Amino acid sequence: MLTPGKQLNQHLTAVIRTFLSQPEWHPSEPLIVPASHPQFGDFQSNIALTLAKKLNQKPRDLAAQLLQNVHLEELCEPPTIAGPGFMNFTLKPTYIQSWLTQQIQDPRCGVPLVDEPETIIVDFSSPNIAKEMHVGHLRSTIIGDCLARLFEFQGHRVLRLNHVGDWGTQFGMLIAYLREAYPEFFTQNQEIDLGDLVSFYRQAKQRFDGDETFQEQARQIVVKLQAGDPELLSAWRFLCDLSRREFQQIYDLLDVQLTERGESFYNPFLPEIVQELKEKNLAVLDQGAWCVFLEGFVNTDGSPLPLIIQKSDGGYNYATTDLAALRYRVQQDGAQRIIYVTDVGQSQHFAQVFQVAKKAGWVTEKVQCIHVPFGLVLGEDGKKFRTRSGETVRLKDLLEEAIRRAEQDMQARLQAEQRQESPEFMHNLARVIGISAVKYADLSQNRLSNYSFSYDKMLALQGNTAPYLLYAYVRVQGIARKGAIDFEQFVPEFVLSTQPEFMLAKHLMQFPDGVEQLGQDLFPNRLSNYLFELSQKFNQFYDQCPILSAPDPERTSRLGLAHLTAKVLKLGLSLLGIPVVERM
Ligand code: ARG
Repeated sequence: MLTPGKQLNQHLTAVIRTFLSQPEWHPSEPLIVPASHPQFGDFQSNIALTLAKKLNQKPRDLAAQLLQNVHLEELCEPPTIAGPGFMNFTLKPTYIQSWLTQQIQDPRCGVPLVDEPETIIVDFSSPNIAKEMHVGHLRSTIIGDCLARLFEFQGHRVLRLNHVGDWGTQFGMLIAYLREAYPEFFTQNQEIDLGDLVSFYRQAKQRFDGDETFQEQARQIVVKLQAGDPELLSAWRFLCDLSRREFQQIYDLLDVQLTERGESFYNPFLPEIVQELKEKNLAVLDQGAWCVFLEGFVNTDGSPLPLIIQKSDGGYNYATTDLAALRYRVQQDGAQRIIYVTDVGQSQHFAQVFQVAKKAGWVTEKVQCIHVPFGLVLGEDGKKFRTRSGETVRLKDLLEEAIRRAEQDMQARLQAEQRQESPEFMHNLARVIGISAVKYADLSQNRLSNYSFSYDKMLALQGNTAPYLLYAYVRVQGIARKGAIDFEQFVPEFVLSTQPEFMLAKHLMQFPDGVEQLGQDLFPNRLSNYLFELSQKFNQFYDQCPILSAPDPERTSRLGLAHLTAKVLKLGLSLLGIPVVERM
């Protein structure tokens, strides 16, 4: 289904092409944008102003000439010219109505599949084994999942990769410490959770920092581990399993699917990566380390800042692994787009890795590497997000607290409304609302900004929150129950007459463009804002236009608007990773 904006654009582009003989003057799309104010109609174009300069004509005259060739009688009212030469377009009610009829029958609510599906890798979440999964990883998980859902819905082939940090010097330290302090750790089948592992990690680090013999032991272990010592490998596996189980609990709570392919997967390729970069004369030896020098990267003192790919002790690092991963993803996975979702602090790392991979020829013109950065999560005080006692917040605790508070809110509301619900209903609802609130609070922010984490704000029933959106959906289901209407069996005729109906209808029509926008700029708050506005427009319509008590044909038409709103909300929220509920 072509959205009205797209149809207008296509038509106006064609008009201009025939009107202007010089192809170099053909303007690039979009020529038409949604009107900045309802008084200018639904869409507007300033193309006459831009072209008038080139053609040395008066913009208003040019606009008039262009409009003589515009034939959009089915779509809109006769276009008008405003101010210095803006062209304004107002959609015809008959057109809006027939568009809605198509949209409501389409399970995709008007969103097309892409013409050329690509293989897209989304590298997200990616916590580190034995270290705590922190709020930064939560952001990555939520944003990455949203982008993966979007690409899947658009019809791309998507590989959701969890690039866990499962290799590195931390294991030497940890294994050395555990062997010393808890000799039975790796042999006995004991109940350990990641909380313990993280505190072990802290203790190990302390030990490491204060004792040289211990440091040496830890290093020995790393060397033996890398050489494939079977006993150490099994200890390493044991630790990875432990972390993995803990991570999985979080993914289950969040309903996020990931394929784990950790850093260790790329170990066998690291020597070739360095070798190849040497052969291509990209890697040079600098103070004992193999480095690649790149354009545009300098230290604060202006000296060139290299990307180190092999340290002077022979070890490889984070960047080497990312280069191997990138090459593998292009050559073996056939990825055409690779998206990395991490905090903004890693921007330079990815810019360097991408540049090296391009120079090495691993990333060709046909492959797009995109870093999708995000800001920090702060506490309500605007400082680093921590528990009251100053420790990093465990994600599981954070999510469980959101669920607990959602349940509390529910209980208060039920009491106020004198409603009775079963415990299962309450648990399920609290879980959906709590988790959705956390996800939505994140996705509704411009991801580049830092945001303050506030349970109260994210769980509020008013404002740009998950509960507010879910409630709009629930309202529609309430109407259906009250009127005993089966929306699935229902094909409405639309007849719009009042202002709130038109406002809602026009917003519904913009859904496909909103989804497409998100696919282009990868800012989930575009979609969440769209859905928030949709809920607001629906609520205005609901408050001002009687639905069940209206006479036909208005009744059917309004039911149709309500149903279409619910469909778009459900679909839009599903792209954010948020499920709907029938009652709340
Ligand atoms: N493990 C890293 C961290 O916790 C994130 C990994 C991101 N992905 C990548 N391919 N480098 O910061």
